Amino acid sequence: MRSSSGRFDLDGKTALVTGASRGIGRAIALGLAEAGADVAILARSTAALAEVAKEIEAMGRRAVAYTCDIDDSEQTYQTVAAAITELGQLDVVVNNAGGFEHVGPFLAMTADDWTKILRTNLESVVHVCRAVGGHMTGRGTGSVINVASVGGYNGVPMLSPYAVAKAGVISLTRTLAIEWGAAGVRVNAIAPGWTRTQLTSSFAGNPGLSDGLIQAVPLAVWGEPDDLAGAAVYLASDAARMVTGTSLTVDGGVTAYNTGPAMLDLLQAGRIPV
Ligand SMILES: NC(=O)c1ccc[n+]([C@@H]2O[C@H](COP(=O)([O-])OP(=O)(O)OC[C@H]3O[C@@H](n4cnc5c(N)ncnc54)[C@H](OP(=O)(O)O)[C@@H]3O)[C@@H](O)[C@H]2O)c1
Repeated sequence: MRSSSGRFDLDGKTALVTGASRGIGRAIALGLAEAGADVAILARSTAALAEVAKEIEAMGRRAVAYTCDIDDSEQTYQTVAAAITELGQLDVVVNNAGGFEHVGPFLAMTADDWTKILRTNLESVVHVCRAVGGHMTGRGTGSVINVASVGGYNGVPMLSPYAVAKAGVISLTRTLAIEWGAAGVRVNAIAPGWTRTQLTSSFAGNPGLSDGLIQAVPLAVWGEPDDLAGAAVYLASDAARMVTGTSLTVDGGVTAYNTGPAMLDLLQAGRIPV
């Protein structure tokens, strides 16, 4: 099957997506396949990866699945090397694996909590970029897409190491865009806002909390994993030929606020003279 996405066409391209067993990574892997790419997928859950691989193959694309813990740098380097060998080349790499297990105030956190979140969300991106950078710059082409978060733009109470990690990902994205630009390799980030996945199920599943969070979203809805797929396909494609070092925000408008939603509430309640 050939894709008909025109300037967003990824026919003949190969991609690697980390954290593709579910959620945003799965949606991005399927989106890249739908646009024409063969896709290598990586995560710890072998059975879930096999299901995603089947979905990719059902679109007529090639899928290769790797069980890999991205917290383990050796496994990560070996897996990226295996994907390059298996697919022959990597044109697109999406660093999506990430998340957190605990939330809590800065002072309640252990040093191990801090290290674990930095390892999964920032160091993993460093290792994958180191593993693929020579390959891409050597070929003179490539697109690296780092899944950051709007939490990387601002402070995030109860999630300080996650916010630091995602800010680090955005910073690394800019630096690599500069270092690798002349070699034809583009490096961009995607910054999702609230998106309904396993990571956020305890937030989305709590009506009181969910309503409060969505009140701060101008589009007034939760994002779905598939909302990130189009952004990834765009950044992977030749349509984004001149786009590098940027962070594409997909957040329903959360970061458009300067004042927070309280100002809008006051305006609508007629409490601010206009
Ligand atoms: N959902 C949101 O609202 C939101 C907002 C902003 C940014 N993000 C970012 O979007 C990305 C995807 O998150 P999501 O919401 O889709 O979360 P999710 O549903 O929990 O999926 C996380 C994915 O990462 C993989 N992963 C986690 N730790 C891993 C490890 N050590 N080694 C290998 N794979 C690992 C998981 O696979 P296994 O468990 O099978 O290993 C899974 O495929 C993350 O970087 C997250 O920080 C999410």
